[in-house]
Amino acid sequence: MAAWISSLLFLCVIASVHLKYLSEDEDAKRELAEYIQETKKSINPRWRLHYHVIPPVGWMNDPNGFSYYKGEYHLFFQYYPYDSVWGPMHWGHSVSPNLVDWRELPTALAPDEEMCFSGSALVDGDKLVLMYTGRLNTDTDPFYNETQYLAFSDDGVNFYKYEGNPVLARTPDGAYDFRDPKIWKYGDYWYVVIGSSTHDARGRVLLYRSQNLYDWEFLTVLGESNGELGYMWECPDFFELDGKYILLMSPQGLEPQGDRYKNTHQTGYIIGSFNYETFEFVPEVDFQELDFGHDFYATQTLDADGKRIVAGWFSMWELPHPEDVDGWAGAITIMRELKLSGNRLLQQPLDEMLSLRNGSVHNGSFNKDESLVFEKTGELIINGDLEQKIELEIAGTNGGNNIWIRWEPEVKKVVVDRGGDVRQVEWSPIGSRSWRLFLDASSLELFCGEGEVVFSTRFYPDGDLRVNSFSDQSLNVEAHKLRRSVPV
Ligand SMILES: *[C@@H]1O[C@H](CO)[C@@H](O)[C@H](O)[C@H]1NC(C)=O
Ligand SMILES: *[C@@H]1O[C@H](CO)[C@@H](O)[C@H](O)[C@H]1NC(C)=O
Ligand SMILES: *[C@@H]1O[C@H](CO)[C@@H](O)[C@H](O)[C@H]1NC(C)=O
Repeated sequence: MAAWISSLLFLCVIASVHLKYLSEDEDAKRELAEYIQETKKSINPRWRLHYHVIPPVGWMNDPNGFSYYKGEYHLFFQYYPYDSVWGPMHWGHSVSPNLVDWRELPTALAPDEEMCFSGSALVDGDKLVLMYTGRLNTDTDPFYNETQYLAFSDDGVNFYKYEGNPVLARTPDGAYDFRDPKIWKYGDYWYVVIGSSTHDARGRVLLYRSQNLYDWEFLTVLGESNGELGYMWECPDFFELDGKYILLMSPQGLEPQGDRYKNTHQTGYIIGSFNYETFEFVPEVDFQELDFGHDFYATQTLDADGKRIVAGWFSMWELPHPEDVDGWAGAITIMRELKLSGNRLLQQPLDEMLSLRNGSVHNGSFNKDESLVFEKTGELIINGDLEQKIELEIAGTNGGNNIWIRWEPEVKKVVVDRGGDVRQVEWSPIGSRSWRLFLDASSLELFCGEGEVVFSTRFYPDGDLRVNSFSDQSLNVEAHKLRRSVPV
C-alpha cells in the first residue's frame, strides 16, 4: 500500500473516532436535557423560589464560575440532576443580563472519569475558561484524589474539556485536600487560590500563578489556620476592595463560640494587605462571619465593573433539605454587593432588585396583632423605634414552619428564631436604621441597616406567607409583592 493511502486511511479512522466521540457526547447532552424537561413536570411547586437561582430539577450546592462573558452574567453551580440529594457532580448553568433575571442553559459539565467539583471562570480572549476540581475515587486511603481541570467554551453554552487535564495535579506537600480553584488575572499572569488542608488538619489557602493557564507555579500559602480556624478551608476567594485585600473562604470544623459559628460549616473573611512582589498576605482583622443566618455557605464573588458581587449557596450541609421530597434541593442567595466599611464587610442587595417590585402590599403603620399576606414573595422595609422590642412572625397561611424575627433592645441583638434554632448577633447601625426583608416561598434574607448584619435562612411554610406583628410599638412598613425572575 502506498504510504499516502495508509496515511489517508489513518486520518479517516481518526476523523471517524472523533466524530463518534462528538456524537456520543451530543446524544448524552440531549438525553440529559430531555430528562430535565421531563422530570421538571413532576416537581411540586410549593417551595420553589421565584427570584433565586434554583436547580431545574435535582440537587444544587456551591455557586461556581461566576463571570461576565459576551454580554451576560454566567452563574454555574454544583449540580446533580438525577436525584434531589448529592451525587456525582455536574455543573448546572444559568445566565442573566442584570444579575436579577435568570434563564437556564444546558448542563455545562458532566462527569467523565472525574466528578466536576467546584471552580471558577474567566474570559481569555474569545473563550470562557472554566477551572474546576476533578475529583476521582481511588482504591487507597483517603479514597479520593483532587486535581485541577480546565474546560473551554467559544459560545458560553457548549463546553469542552482540555485533553491534557489535569493541569495542576498535586499540592506542594502532597496533601490530599485540594479543591475549589478561584482564578483571576493581574498583569501578565493568571493567579489562582485553591482550598487545602495541612497534614495536621489545619485549613489553608494555596496561591499559584501561570502565564498560559497550563503550567502553574506554586507561590505561597496565602493563609493558614493557627489551629482554631478549622481543618479545611473550602471555596477560597481573594480580591482587592477599597485598597484592602479580602480573603473570603468557607472553613470547616469551627467550634461554636457563643452566638458565633453555629452552622455546620461557616463562611467568613479576613481583611489584610497584599503585595504582588512578595505574595505576602498580612491579615489585619481577625476572621469574621459574612452572614449570620442558618443557610449560607460556599460563596463566590465577581468583579462587575468595579463592584464586588457575592453569591452563596442558600443551604447547609448535614441538615434536612425539606424540599427534596418535591424533586429538588438547594438555591443560590440573591446577589449582593460587598462593601468595605472600617473593619468589616457590608452586604447590600443590588439596585436592580428594585425592578422586581410588582405591586404594593402595604405602606404605612403596622400595629400589634396586624398581619400582611404575601402571595409567596415579598419585600418589606421595616422601621421601628430601636429603643423598643420588635417582634415579627412569618407563617404559612396554611400552617407549616413559622419563623420569628426579633430586635432585643436590652442586648442590642437581631434574632432569627427558626423553631428554637436561634441565630443572633449584635447590631449597631452605622447609618440606616431600617430592616429590609426579602421573602421568597421558602426563604428569607434580612438586611439590617447598611448591610452590616445579614441573615440568610430557609424555612418551609405551607400556602402563602403571613407576616404578623407582635411588637408593642407601631412599626412603619413599606411592603411590595415581587415578580418572578427565574424559570418555573
Ligand atoms: C492525584 O493524581 C495525580 C495524577 O493525575 C497525581 O499526580 C497526584 O500525585 C495524585 N495526588 C495525590 C495526593 O496522590
Ligand atoms: C407585575 O409584573 C407583570 C409582569 O412583568 C406586569 O405586566 C405588571 O404590570 C406588573 N405589575 C405591577 C403593579 O408592577
Ligand atoms: C410610602 O409612603 C411614604 C410616606 O407617605 C412615601 O414617601 C413613599 O413614597 C411611599 N412608598 C411607596 C412605594 O409608595
